[in-house]
Amino acid sequence: MKLHKDAEKILISEAELSAKVKELGEQITRDFEGKNPVLVCILKGSVVFMADLMRAIDLDVDIDFMVVSSYGAGTSSKGHVKIVKDLSVDIHNRHVIIIEDILDSGNTLSNLIKLLDCRGAASIRLCALLNKPDRRTADVTLDYEGFVIPDEFVIGYGLDYNETYRNLPYVAILKEKIYAK
Ligand code: IMP
Ligand code: MG
Repeated sequence: MKLHKDAEKILISEAELSAKVKELGEQITRDFEGKNPVLVCILKGSVVFMADLMRAIDLDVDIDFMVVSSYGAGTSSKGHVKIVKDLSVDIHNRHVIIIEDILDSGNTLSNLIKLLDCRGAASIRLCALLNKPDRRTADVTLDYEGFVIPDEFVIGYGLDYNETYRNLPYVAILKEKIYAK
């Protein structure tokens, strides 16, 4: 596929994505041997990663989906996560692996972990395809990480800008003029 006109350059190619997803799948398969984890995909950004990753895991897994939104810094509700769509699987005593597209400030994930912990999960692990450590404000560490990336706005492989570009098969840096206008 040729580079989208709004993309500055490809940051992570299809081949690099697929090799990394395979690696993460093997790691999860080893770590959860004999277990039946629940993969929790955080919509919408993680849908492409989830679809590829689950097929790289050689275990019996359940899958489920959540839509959450975090209140930003400066609002009185900071520290809470709003559930827009909740899980349908009961995670009590289950091993949960949260699948995220990107760990940025960390607000979404840190709040989500607290919430799922209250529901009595046996364990909670975090897996994110991308990690932007420069922007972290919440204390979150990843158990499974795809790529550490610089503080640039990226699109593709599930990630959007204003709901566009999610279907690009690579991760690219968005041209500054697109979000500056
Ligand atoms: P945070 O870690 O709570 O700040 O939020 C992470 C969420 O912000 C991700 O799930 C994405 O939806 C979004 N996000 C952060 N950085 C980017 C980016 O570079 N491109 C697209 N979405 C992003
Ligand atoms: Mg997201």
